[in-house]
Amino acid sequence: IREPALAGRHVVISAGGTREPLDPVRFLGNRSSGKQGYALARTAAARGARVTLVSANPQLPDPAGVDVVPVGTAKELREAVVKAATDADAVVMAAAVADFRPASYATGKIKKKDGQEPEPVALVRNPDILAEIAAARPRPGQLVVGFAAETDDVLVNGRAKLARKGCDLLVVNEVGEAKTFGAEENEAVVLGADGSETPVPNGPKEALADTVWDLVAARLVS
Ligand code: C5P
Repeated sequence: IREPALAGRHVVISAGGTREPLDPVRFLGNRSSGKQGYALARTAAARGARVTLVSANPQLPDPAGVDVVPVGTAKELREAVVKAATDADAVVMAAAVADFRPASYATGKIKKKDGQEPEPVALVRNPDILAEIAAARPRPGQLVVGFAAETDDVLVNGRAKLARKGCDLLVVNEVGEAKTFGAEENEAVVLGADGSETPVPNGPKEALADTVWDLVAARLVS
């Protein structure tokens, strides 16, 4: 078990990417592989934590000794995270949650019609689960960690997002063409609401996960 340990702690991690259905066969999704969230789950379990992994559409095997809750949509992810968070010491939102979902769902497959242009797809906002958990803090002293992918002004945008979401730590990484999504490695800066700034050099997703748990463990009181 790596130090500092998380023995006796309950941690909730969201991983993967949500899928918002348009009809029975189509969805709006994203390229999140779930690898970072799964690395967080494995490393937390190795430190002795009880781990709930709310997992949105990954193509990955269940990590040993982890309670995996499979979900599809942002709404399902929200329900599962809110439920698991009630007694959690830390909630880490590593999932890529769709910001928008189709305003309506067609119960039958949407068909193309001869000579007709397709209907535009209307979207509505999904709830911001990270901001909601950070505002609610169902357990006193609970730590809330978010992830942010930024393409420019990474630190400035990261600080603004940390404040907007109200979380304790925000893992910010710079995304480009081949960077981060689906990759085996990750490079990031972990920003703290206390003003801290912890750079994590490019390396395995487990290394970033271990840094997150070091920072979480250091901030958990009693
Ligand atoms: O606002 P943005 O999507 O960049 O924020 C990313 C962070 O917020 C991630 O931790 C993600 O899991 C979380 N998030 C969320 N609910 C949303 C959108 C993002 O919890 N609807």
